[in-house]
Amino acid sequence: MAYSFLVTRSIPTVGLDRLRSGGSVKVNPYDRPMTADELVMAAADCDGILSMLTDRIDSAFLDRCPRVKAISNYAVGFNNIDVAECTRRGIGVSNTPDVLTNATAEIAMGLMLACARRLVEADGVVRTGQWRGWAPLDYLGVDMVGKVLGIVGAGRIGLRVAKMAAGFDMQVRYYSRSSHPEFDQIGAVRVDLERLLREADFVSLHAPLTDQTRHIIGAKQLAMMKPTAVFINTARGALVDEQALVEALRENRIFAAGLDVFEHEPVLSAGLASLKNAVLLPHIGSATTATRGEMAVMAAEDLLAMTSGKRPVHPVNPRRWG
Ligand code: NAP
Ligand code: GLV
Ligand code: GLV
Repeated sequence: MAYSFLVTRSIPTVGLDRLRSGGSVKVNPYDRPMTADELVMAAADCDGILSMLTDRIDSAFLDRCPRVKAISNYAVGFNNIDVAECTRRGIGVSNTPDVLTNATAEIAMGLMLACARRLVEADGVVRTGQWRGWAPLDYLGVDMVGKVLGIVGAGRIGLRVAKMAAGFDMQVRYYSRSSHPEFDQIGAVRVDLERLLREADFVSLHAPLTDQTRHIIGAKQLAMMKPTAVFINTARGALVDEQALVEALRENRIFAAGLDVFEHEPVLSAGLASLKNAVLLPHIGSATTATRGEMAVMAAEDLLAMTSGKRPVHPVNPRRWG
């Protein structure tokens, strides 16, 4: 049987070709996310959706698209989807774990270096002709080698960052709901969040956005951090009270922050863009050609599996499949 699919944003051709082997494929024609109404209009006659993290898949959407039986999210995070509601309706949900772990960990490491050594600020000085030549007291940063790294959310990406940090002789602490033997094996020590924030020179977030993790870092937690600490978020913006972060950075209560994700992206909290001690990236964690290609194939294959009633390789709601 030939199925009908909606891909809500143009993705690498390799994924579209895979999907076309199982049915007809509509792709969002715009170079922007679809509005809620556009999404419903495009999805209403489809069996499966290949969705983006910018699409809200909730009961209002599902009510208006009763034919949809499968949602394959082109991301590992799935906080944009009401998974409980999908499960209740028998709709399968999948995501794209593992293939983007290295790429996202690289961005976390890159942000650490950029913040610690003020790379973006210093680049601006050189390219705007303001550089007066080498000077002993200019652009002083903080060291990374040998420092304490605190990982919040001990999952796939957090582990990869911890392993990369071993090359910098960093001492790793982690905070997670459960203990993780793969962290213990590399000498990382499990601590509570307060101890992590008080001891870490670098704090890097890698937990999913859930009701429990929303604003896990607010004014109180930022106040626990060292004035020399570097704060990195490549997970989800809403893990952080962004306005509180802006205030901490403005008053130099922490050294710097490197952010790939924002609380209300693509809109930034007031004052964030003018801070010299913030490095701001447009949510590019998984943005390499190879990674986005692998995500496309993975998402397409799982969508084909789910629409034909099979369990996907990367289920988000495994209970749906018994
Ligand atoms: P993962 O393997 O599921 O790891 C997340 C970890 O967070 C889990 O191991 C979990 O460990 C921990 N966690 C869950 N709830 C927690 C809580 N309440 N408090 C503390 N820790 C908690 O996911 P991943 O593949 O590493 O991806 C992590 C996140 O990164 C994704 O959810 C996504 O939002 C984000 N991401 C962003 C980009 C980007 O482009 N910037 C790219 C990829 C992923 P416990 O069960 O022990 O708590
Ligand atoms: C990107 O943010 C992802 O969750 O894959
Ligand atoms: C700096 O360039 C040095 O040689 O120390």
